[in-house]
Amino acid sequence: MEKINVLFSEEEILKRVKELADILYQKYGDEEVTFVCTLKGAVFFCCDLLKNYKGDGRMEFLRVSSYEGESSTGKINLKLPLNAEKINGKNVVVVEDIVDTGYTLNYVRQYIKGMNPKSLIECTLLDKKARRVVDIEPTYSGFVIDDLFVIGYGLDYDQKYRNLPYIGVVVKE
Ligand code: IMP
Repeated sequence: MEKINVLFSEEEILKRVKELADILYQKYGDEEVTFVCTLKGAVFFCCDLLKNYKGDGRMEFLRVSSYEGESSTGKINLKLPLNAEKINGKNVVVVEDIVDTGYTLNYVRQYIKGMNPKSLIECTLLDKKARRVVDIEPTYSGFVIDDLFVIGYGLDYDQKYRNLPYIGVVVKE
C-alpha cells in the first residue's frame, strides 16, 4: 500500500505561481517573453504560470530526460528540440518543474544560449538545493525543498502520479 503525504496543497501552489507570474511581469513589462516549458514535468506549472501572466507571454516546448526511477543519470537526452528561430533574439524564460542535481538545467541553459536569445533566465517550481552536483542556480524558484522524492502537479514516479493536483511524497508502508 502507498500513502501520499501532501507537501504543498493545490491552493499553496497556485498562490506561489501567481506571485511568480507577477514577479516576471514586473521584470518584462510589455516586452514579448517566450516561456520554454520543459516536458513533461513542468507542463502544469507552465500552464498556470502563463494563465496568470499579465504580459505578452508565448510558449515553446522542449523535452529532455535524465531520470530513471528515483535517480538522475547525469546523461541528458534531448527528446524534443526547440526551433532556433523561436528563440533567437527573444526574452526566454525556461520553466522547470524541479532542479535537483542541476545537470538538466545546465544542459538546457547551454543549449538555449547556443540559439542566441536576447535574454535568458530560469524559473523552477521546486529547488532541491541540497542535492546539487553542478554549480548552478535557477533565477527564480517557487519553493526550496529538502532531499525528498516528490510527485504530483506534473511530477512523476515512472510516469505515475502526474495528474495529482497537489505535490506530495509517497510513503511506502
Ligand atoms: P536534475 O538534472 O538532477 O537537476 O533533475 C531534473 C529533472 O529530474 C527534473 O526536471 C525532473 O524531471 C526530475 N526530478 C528530479 N527530482 C525529482 C523528484 O523529486 N520527483 C520527480 N522528478 C524529479
